[in-house]
Amino acid sequence: MNIRALRWCGMLLAVLPLLVSCDGAPGAPKSSAVPADGQKKTYQNLVVGFAQIGAESEWRTANTRSIQETAKRLGVELKFADAQQQQENQIKAIRSFIAQRVDVIGVSPVVKTGWDTAFAEAKKAGIPLIMLDRGADVPNDLFSAFIGSDFVQEGQRACAEMARLLNGQGNIVELEGTVGSSPQIDRRTGFEQCLKDYPGIHVTIRQSGDFIRARGKEVMKTLLREHGQQFNALFAQNDDMALGAIEAIEEEGLKPGVDIKIVSIDAERAAFEAMIAGKLNTTIECSPLLGPQFFETALNLSNGKPVEKWVKSNESIFRQDTATLELPKRQY
Ligand code: AHR
Repeated sequence: MNIRALRWCGMLLAVLPLLVSCDGAPGAPKSSAVPADGQKKTYQNLVVGFAQIGAESEWRTANTRSIQETAKRLGVELKFADAQQQQENQIKAIRSFIAQRVDVIGVSPVVKTGWDTAFAEAKKAGIPLIMLDRGADVPNDLFSAFIGSDFVQEGQRACAEMARLLNGQGNIVELEGTVGSSPQIDRRTGFEQCLKDYPGIHVTIRQSGDFIRARGKEVMKTLLREHGQQFNALFAQNDDMALGAIEAIEEEGLKPGVDIKIVSIDAERAAFEAMIAGKLNTTIECSPLLGPQFFETALNLSNGKPVEKWVKSNESIFRQDTATLELPKRQY
């Protein structure tokens, strides 16, 4: 360690005795402060904590991969917590990241409400917090940036596709995601907003499948057995639930994509395969590949640079007619 670094270390230890280790001991927490010698943070000395929701879908798996692989590629030290769908586990992870004095905290809130206290603790500790993928109902000053999709727009796009497929006439089952999550609430809002323009189309049944493929299958099977063919369309709030529902529809002797028109959200590879097979009609893209934007934003924040409050994903709509061409290009 050179004289200058030692001097910087001595000064810092005087004011932050418990937070910083200057002996380079393995496992010692790194400081969240920008080095006093004027050196900016780089990816190689950045420490980021991320509180992930869990692994409910292919989408989530791709999102986790994007975060972990990007951290590795850039040389960022990533502390990753899998909350197994529990908000209290995400809150515990945030508190642990604060105690470890990470430079930036990322979280994908499993549901929208109940975050004020934990986010305020991060703010009090001076640690910037980024919401990735899902949003939370908190005051604007409790987070530094939101990176992700416009879920309301996704719902609107799904409805417009459905209206086209149904020629303005039909009864829809809506399979919703995790109740109280931002994609569940906002996709429903967008879908309902757009449905006002189509008086001949109605959502007659709404049930949650928790964004899980097996739940999508189970719910669809029950609905078909209880309600027979009182509906001719399915809007699944993610591809995984649509793929599960497709299995149930086939097992009940119906043709998915034909007898029951299906629109879903995410644009996973498996959805393209289902479109090529004629079983899914449309998928609305929602990109999980947020790792690069996440770490770029984290680095800028830890260097005190201004960042966009909402770093919005740029996404498309995919139908059966282009599925064969698009499939080889899909990264998740
Ligand atoms: O928050 C994004 C949603 O969460 C995706 O649409 C879904 O597949 C995932 O589980």
